Amino acid sequence: MVPPTSPHPTVLCRVRELGISFGSRAALRGLNFAIQPGTITAVIGPNGSGKTTLLDLLAGLQRPSTGELEWADPQPPVAYLTQRHSAVRWLPLTSAEVIRMGRYRMRGLLRPMGTADRRFCRRVAEELEIGDLLHRQYGNLSGGQQQRVLVAQMLAQEARLILLDEPITGLDLASQSRIVEIVRRQARAGVAAVLTTHHLDEARDADQVLLLSEGSLVAVGPPGEVLTSDNLRSAYGDRVLAPAGGGEITVLDDHGHDHGPTG
Ligand SMILES: Nc1ncnc2c1ncn2[C@@H]1O[C@H](COP(=O)(O)OP(=O)(O)O)[C@@H](O)[C@H]1O
Ligand SMILES: [Mg+2]
Repeated sequence: MVPPTSPHPTVLCRVRELGISFGSRAALRGLNFAIQPGTITAVIGPNGSGKTTLLDLLAGLQRPSTGELEWADPQPPVAYLTQRHSAVRWLPLTSAEVIRMGRYRMRGLLRPMGTADRRFCRRVAEELEIGDLLHRQYGNLSGGQQQRVLVAQMLAQEARLILLDEPITGLDLASQSRIVEIVRRQARAGVAAVLTTHHLDEARDADQVLLLSEGSLVAVGPPGEVLTSDNLRSAYGDRVLAPAGGGEITVLDDHGHDHGPTG
């Protein structure tokens, strides 16, 4: 918890000239933006544009080749829902046990879970409407149910910054809307969320959108400014469908086929 005397930071993380290369290839270059508490940032762009790499950098799993991440002091705890989850799938764990793993960082591996921890885990499970799945084997749940358990595990960490890599891609609609609503609720409670998505609707609902193309930011700002047909065309080319008389823009995206490096 943030002690009551510390000033509430207005920026959790300021990203300056951020870049990363793998070998001689730049996966991201020259990124500048800021992440504010209580906001949702949606990262969009075609497959291979660098979305996951950006989350990896924010999570500290990769180190920048250029530029820097300037964190608020004290540095906020970060939780990351990756797309490459689920070695957990092969372990004989119940949903409740998977959710409780979210508390390990706070408690340390060896200290037992207290009643308050268990109560907290039950509450996040209920928020995700999986209270009735807690005793089921995680590996036997549907994709949407598993993802809700992993979102609950992430909430159990009580992070100030949550990172979600394509959290709703390929899920049933009920799980999609539940997860979208939970992320909104987290933001209202002051948490900053950064998520990658192939859903323009999800990006339209965000406070800030980062539009990536081949590792560079085409645009950053509020959805109304970023999600223009010109910007989208420069990222997605002629896969953008914009009705001539105005109206909703769609992108014929290849979502659902991006399973990440190991998934
Ligand atoms: N660990 C890595 N080693 C080498 N290349 C990588 C690695 N991670 C990502 N890349 C490359 O960086 C680029 C961006 O990938 P990624 O961030 O996964 O894109 P997205 O999530 O938008 O589909 C791709 O060209 C990918 O092949
Ligand atoms: Mg990705």
